[in-house]
Amino acid sequence: KKTTPIITDPQSFIQLTDECVALFNELKPIAGEYARRMKVLKRLNKLIYNYFSDGKPQLHLFGSSANNFGMKNADMDISLVIDEKHVGSPKRIVLRLGDILKRKRMLEVVCLPRARVPIVKFKDEFSELSCDICINNTLAIHNTQLISTYSKIDIRARQLGYVIKHWAKCRQINEPYQGTLSSYAWIVMALHYLQTRNPPILPVLQNMTAPGEERKKVEVEGHDVYFYSNWDSLREFGTPNTSSLGELVTGFFRLYAEEFDWNDSVVSLRTGGYLTKEEKQWAKQTNDRDNILLTIEDPFEVTHNLGRLVDRSNLKVIKYEFKRAYKLAASGKPLSKICEEYVAD
Ligand code: GTP
Ligand code: MG
Repeated sequence: KKTTPIITDPQSFIQLTDECVALFNELKPIAGEYARRMKVLKRLNKLIYNYFSDGKPQLHLFGSSANNFGMKNADMDISLVIDEKHVGSPKRIVLRLGDILKRKRMLEVVCLPRARVPIVKFKDEFSELSCDICINNTLAIHNTQLISTYSKIDIRARQLGYVIKHWAKCRQINEPYQGTLSSYAWIVMALHYLQTRNPPILPVLQNMTAPGEERKKVEVEGHDVYFYSNWDSLREFGTPNTSSLGELVTGFFRLYAEEFDWNDSVVSLRTGGYLTKEEKQWAKQTNDRDNILLTIEDPFEVTHNLGRLVDRSNLKVIKYEFKRAYKLAASGKPLSKICEEYVAD
């Protein structure tokens, strides 16, 4: 097997590191963006409260507005937490929400009550932010908190996540509707990569407890969503590993270009290691929809493969992109070349 020679001289990563840091600074939202979004959320909360007061409605942010990996003008993913016993099915709630939002003069209100996940989409009239509201997506609120906690432990986690997300968007492999990976899946892979460095840059929060405490179980919709959330106590966790961002980005590409065992391995952020497809019972595909070619375990919903949309042809594309990116990074090409917009020929 022919492999690209591994650069070991840290000097060679200085340029790539500088470029990655600059990209991160350009992509990350300005200070105060989260507060701005929380204000929009608060206003929406007030606006709908009276219409659903029986069900004690509460809007929560999830996804990139709240996980610390959001781009400047990303959509707001919102989940309405509500007692369905009192106010009816998600489908009905979505239709009712749509009516209220139209009456309150929100822009471009569209209801999708029959989608796999019923949602209402609109643009907030003041901030002009695009919003999606779904109903009782509680696991998403928890995994958003998990991702956000990881992002605060070591600055390189956030930086690597942004670079990988940007690369995947530019190379058109962040398109779940076309069968490649969601942003969420890319972030999970990046964080898992940092857990598996030697020495590790990130801990395994789902296995950790405070000193002297036993691991508790926190159950939500039948899943254990416990994780150690005191990131402030972990700020020094990654410091024994002095790898630069450029080295990590290159190493991430190398892992999936040359080292990862696509046939048997499952990426597991929950355990901070690899599981086998065999032990997850993902060795044989059981239906047409859920592929098991690229297997990434959801940290809480452990039977859920974040790579289920990746079929044979998209797997080929993703593998090609890893090889391409690794070759360019390892031969000292600039980040702009690595992240060059993909154009179909
Ligand atoms: P951008 O919108 O691209 O900036 O990224 P995002 O962080 O909002 O990610 P994405 O739109 O992929 O996912 C939004 C949220 O949906 C995630 O943060 C998760 O909380 C939740 N989610 C849970 N399971 C899945 C899944 O299988 N696929 C996706 N796409 N999202 C999931
Ligand atoms: Mg989103």
